[in-house]
Amino acid sequence: MTNEQLEQLLSELSLEEKLGQLTQCEASFFIENAGLAATGPESAIGLKPEDLKLMGSVLNCVGAENCIKLQREFMENHPHHIPLIMMDDVIHGYRTQYPIPLALACAFDDELTEECARMASHEAALEGVHVTFAPMVDISRDARWGRCMESCGEDTTLTKRLGAAMVRGFVGDGGENTVGSCVKHFCAYGAPEAGRDYNNVELSERTLRQTYLPGYKAALDAGAHWIMPSFNSIGHLPMTGNSYILKDILRGEWGFKGAAISDYNAFREIQWHGAAETMKDVAEIPRHCGVDMEMMSGTTILHSKELLAEGRITMEEIDTSVRRILQEKNALGLFENPFRFANADAAADYIMSDANKALALRAAEESAVLLKNDGALLPFKKDIKKLALIGPFAAEKGIKGFWSCVGVDEETVSVYEGIKALLPDTEILLDAGCSYDLLNTTPIDVLTANAKKAAAIAKEADAVLLCIGEYQNYSGEGNSRAEIRLPLPQRILAQEVLSENPDAAVLLFGGRPQDISDFEPLTRAILYMWQPGTMGGTAAAHLVFGDAVPCGKLSMTFPRSVGQVPIYYAHQTTGRAIKDPDIPGMPHPFTSRYMDMPVSPLYAFGHGLSYTTFEYGPVTLNTDTLTEDGSITATATVKNTGNVTAKESVQFYVRDLIGSVARPVKELKDFKKITLAPGEEKTVSFTVKEEDLRYWDKDLQYVSDAGAFHAFIGPDSDTQNYAGFVLKK
Ligand code: BGC
Repeated sequence: MTNEQLEQLLSELSLEEKLGQLTQCEASFFIENAGLAATGPESAIGLKPEDLKLMGSVLNCVGAENCIKLQREFMENHPHHIPLIMMDDVIHGYRTQYPIPLALACAFDDELTEECARMASHEAALEGVHVTFAPMVDISRDARWGRCMESCGEDTTLTKRLGAAMVRGFVGDGGENTVGSCVKHFCAYGAPEAGRDYNNVELSERTLRQTYLPGYKAALDAGAHWIMPSFNSIGHLPMTGNSYILKDILRGEWGFKGAAISDYNAFREIQWHGAAETMKDVAEIPRHCGVDMEMMSGTTILHSKELLAEGRITMEEIDTSVRRILQEKNALGLFENPFRFANADAAADYIMSDANKALALRAAEESAVLLKNDGALLPFKKDIKKLALIGPFAAEKGIKGFWSCVGVDEETVSVYEGIKALLPDTEILLDAGCSYDLLNTTPIDVLTANAKKAAAIAKEADAVLLCIGEYQNYSGEGNSRAEIRLPLPQRILAQEVLSENPDAAVLLFGGRPQDISDFEPLTRAILYMWQPGTMGGTAAAHLVFGDAVPCGKLSMTFPRSVGQVPIYYAHQTTGRAIKDPDIPGMPHPFTSRYMDMPVSPLYAFGHGLSYTTFEYGPVTLNTDTLTEDGSITATATVKNTGNVTAKESVQFYVRDLIGSVARPVKELKDFKKITLAPGEEKTVSFTVKEEDLRYWDKDLQYVSDAGAFHAFIGPDSDTQNYAGFVLKK
């Protein structure tokens, strides 16, 4: 459709049709997920059956046939035959699940991330999805927040890079079997007070701009045409009605031309926040902020007419939003082909194909993080006769992750199945030992007896793998936790099994960094599988028995205790920094310390071991003076000093020693993943320019400072391997 035709269409629409374009409801509002007879749930959001006939969009329409049927019947009945845009949450796979985003981020791998998103987009497109509500690029620094599982973790550079990679994967060149992308949740949704989902956010504008906003901008620059304001308020103002951020920054400073869709029911929640008195007020506020579409509440349809009559909103505001929605439908080619790539036969061939499972497997292997491996306990030898597989995740299929879209547990490979397939002749002694439940109802003596039984079974075996952690639905939306350690039954199990079997290795599952202090000192090896997706059990088997070598690096800091959160490597120094952050409080009075615990984390951002060892050479610079139009190249050698070929994500950090405001102790600027054979050495270089050193200064200007910097190259954010340079202006 040409622009002229689009404008013509817009001019022909009745007000009711326009308001319909600005509303999205669940596909289940239409009978049996397909067809037009209203089933009645629309009344729950105040709408009438006839309103459904004019909807602009549906979410969660599942399956190519359903999408085609709904679209066909909908368009036949629509006065101007405008197609619905079908949106869905394709977050870590459509049906073939790859690891949760927080895990995939540990692969530090733009290409792998892009490939995974492309596979998901292809599966979803064939099933009739037009736009995914992804990527989620909220910076997460508080492990209590359940939705950190959906993010790329704590770091701005990693989030920018991987968020953009996801968008490229989803959107591609807009060609066959791609979907559009809606970046979310704008913004700072990952910083709720006390780590509680949906809770209010308090951030300085500097931190917002420096740390939280760049990820969204990068995703938009990479080709996301949609954005979703977040549920939270910032500085007391609900984001769905935050004109400064949505209008001045997003549309003004960034020049965003795409469409904004509210989060689920978020228009109405402005009232629940206490920031609007009536539903009519609720319909007005986001309209002035350029939030075009209302998801799952009916205030736009119900109140816009009156608001127009009273002059509280303008026809121009309505038209601007409708135009954006029509433009996005047009950009996806929906006017020419309303079914887009929906094709049940092609979907049946492609979805869960061997190639897709192979990719999900590779992603799961590269996402796992070897947190600890004293004395090279892992990998286990393949010729063991008897393996004890203990713990609630030993045979559990609920390890694919919270946002599984249409993925199902039955199609997920458990650890037991993965090991059985790899080592069919090994005897496996299987014992769950306890349930994974968070809230325990079993008496402690029963838990202890069961744990002792499991420990005794483990004693019979040549090797012991303890599979513990967090169930997939204990992280994700609404799933914040005040305690991030193992639930009580698993704590008792770990205590019994590990104290009886000191050579037992731990296979840890979960959707967030966890407080593992209860069992970490009792074991020599911990491999964090996160929630690894469909092929999780196969990946675990390959990693445990050395067919794959761990290379994941933490995308989020592991605290020693929940009392340390929020905790992240890129913190500022204080006026009273502790001299040795690894020593618990007493030696350093009147410093920024804890009396009862070191301030350092258990495992730093970027940490992750391998089955080999790497030796880093010193950082050298091609010059130690950076000019405004020049660049500096920092180089270090990395050598594989062990016996297996392995990958290493080499990390490049910069420290700005003096700014006009306090600066972070280190900031990740770049990373490169390399593969090294035993004995092999590579030279790894990173380039830094003046623009890479800019930050939001005391006057909130985005500038760099002349002066001293450190350039670090190392295996994690703890590295002290650096060379100094000076920026001259
Ligand atoms: C979530 C969004 C999601 C939407 C639609 C909301 O509850 O916050 O992330 O895209 O539902 O499913």
